[in-house]
Amino acid sequence: MRILGISAHYHDSAAALVVDGVPVCAVQEERLSRRKNDSAFPLAAIEWCLERSGLEPGQLDAVVFYEKPMLKFDRILTMALRGFPRTWRSFPRAMKNSLGEKLWVKGIIAAHLGVPSRKIFFTEHHQSHAAAAFLTSPTRSAALLTADGVGEWATLTLGRGAVRDDGSTDLEALREIRFPHSLGMLYSTFTAWLGFPVNEGEYKVMGLSSYGKPLFADAVRRVLRRTPDGGIALDLSYFDYHLSARSSYSAKFLDTFGPARDPWDPIDLQSAPGRHFANVAASVQGVLEDTLVDLARALRAETGLSDLCLGGGVALNGCANTRILRESGFERVFVPPAPGDAGCALGAALYADRVHFGQPWREVPDHPFWGPPADPDELARVALEDGLPMERLEHDSIARAADELCAGHIVGWVEGACEFGPRALGHRSILAAPQHASMRDKLNRSIKFREEFRPFAPAVPVESAARYFDLPPGGDRLGRFMSGVFPVRREWRERLAAVTHVDGTARVQTVERAMAPRFHALLEEMGRRTGVPVLLNTSFNLAGEPIVNRAIEAYSTFRRSGIDVLACGPVIVSKKPAMRQGAEEAVA
Ligand SMILES: [Fe+2]
Repeated sequence: MRILGISAHYHDSAAALVVDGVPVCAVQEERLSRRKNDSAFPLAAIEWCLERSGLEPGQLDAVVFYEKPMLKFDRILTMALRGFPRTWRSFPRAMKNSLGEKLWVKGIIAAHLGVPSRKIFFTEHHQSHAAAAFLTSPTRSAALLTADGVGEWATLTLGRGAVRDDGSTDLEALREIRFPHSLGMLYSTFTAWLGFPVNEGEYKVMGLSSYGKPLFADAVRRVLRRTPDGGIALDLSYFDYHLSARSSYSAKFLDTFGPARDPWDPIDLQSAPGRHFANVAASVQGVLEDTLVDLARALRAETGLSDLCLGGGVALNGCANTRILRESGFERVFVPPAPGDAGCALGAALYADRVHFGQPWREVPDHPFWGPPADPDELARVALEDGLPMERLEHDSIARAADELCAGHIVGWVEGACEFGPRALGHRSILAAPQHASMRDKLNRSIKFREEFRPFAPAVPVESAARYFDLPPGGDRLGRFMSGVFPVRREWRERLAAVTHVDGTARVQTVERAMAPRFHALLEEMGRRTGVPVLLNTSFNLAGEPIVNRAIEAYSTFRRSGIDVLACGPVIVSKKPAMRQGAEEAVA
């Protein structure tokens, strides 16, 4: 069967194609449209998926949308009626913001693709999350935990997935927590209060939390309380998001935690307000972790299963994932490379295949590289036209990249198919030597322009990971897609200063040779030269831009930033020494 999955109209749209039970390709719309977190109907992504697989829309057996618009409409209408009259102003805005074109999605799909409406299906939002987590992981029996801001009504679900002996798949929902009670909305509200963009700035809250002390944990626990049945409930008097489309926190929230940060004011961690923001971030992070650990522990006791699959945007919280692995009793924790809403495109297609159509279980290749490939020839052409030194090194490009990295240069590393999901895992990465903290500053000054409290991540061959990082059993599984945060071993912290966070941890990527052979070979080459097979790995994009996709986009980013060398397969392009110096001076 040929099944196209689509997620759209909220945040980070995507399309994915599953043929005979196996993903063939998947890509976020932003990678093609070049608009970060593009939420438009993913026409370009759909077109690319069809073109890549040589299919016409008429050859599709099904098109699956990742959530049920009518259920979402039901939620918004119900909340508006419940909150009346306070909500009467916000209702039209909420309709527009949350639903937009979604309600008419069947007509949109039918019109754009020319697919008859009998071939168009809908999965529930959290079914898509659960399927994206379970059906892409190498386990045949697992407990499932999904958590995000909100889908239709559910904000957190607990369940279990199993592949039966006859190859059929069973995804069972055990219970759910419903809007407005939401761990994701809690975290997003603090994200907004801290002056960061919601759905994007959650990473910053996590980074900032390491600089603070959880002095406000009790206050956060008054906002988020446990219910007698083991669930959670928010004290809604602290929030406005269920009543207003404009603001997420209430006057009571401000009375408790203080005035919100002005997004234009930099956070100065030496100042009292800066420390206050860090303390509140640490408090909400701690309470989120405690809550997820308790939920996971109860799920482990209930199901007796040893594997746990995590999905939903909350599963991007690497600190929480690690604590779940360490403390919940599960032996293995799986987080897919795209646990957020983009990944729902793939989840919806796999759900339709296994559950709706009852197709037999098929092993899904365990990697994130489902996007468009980069063409080294394109890079060679554009460099030639632009007059930059270009070499084609069929056998020595890895050694050459290692030379540059050892010389302290920053390397743009583009390889094969683009990653599906928010993280660069060695195919669209900016790489640098991890030894000196000054490298972190250089990257921030000349490329990433990130806040000082946001750490950079290391990549290490999976075979060597335990030497440098304190991975618990099963930790390399979280490290596979950079989904966990682990302590850097004390004796290595100074020598890995550029990738060690203030609390001594790192969001490690453990690289397996079979998944990314050239990236793995580069890490090993670094090990041979420096004794430490570790590189700083950050996504190949400038602030505010999506991760690069094609070689020409990588080239454009390379030219506009402080990246010294750009490698795409065997092709290596270098900036002239004067240009490198110019870039340094421009940012100094
Ligand atoms: Fe979601």
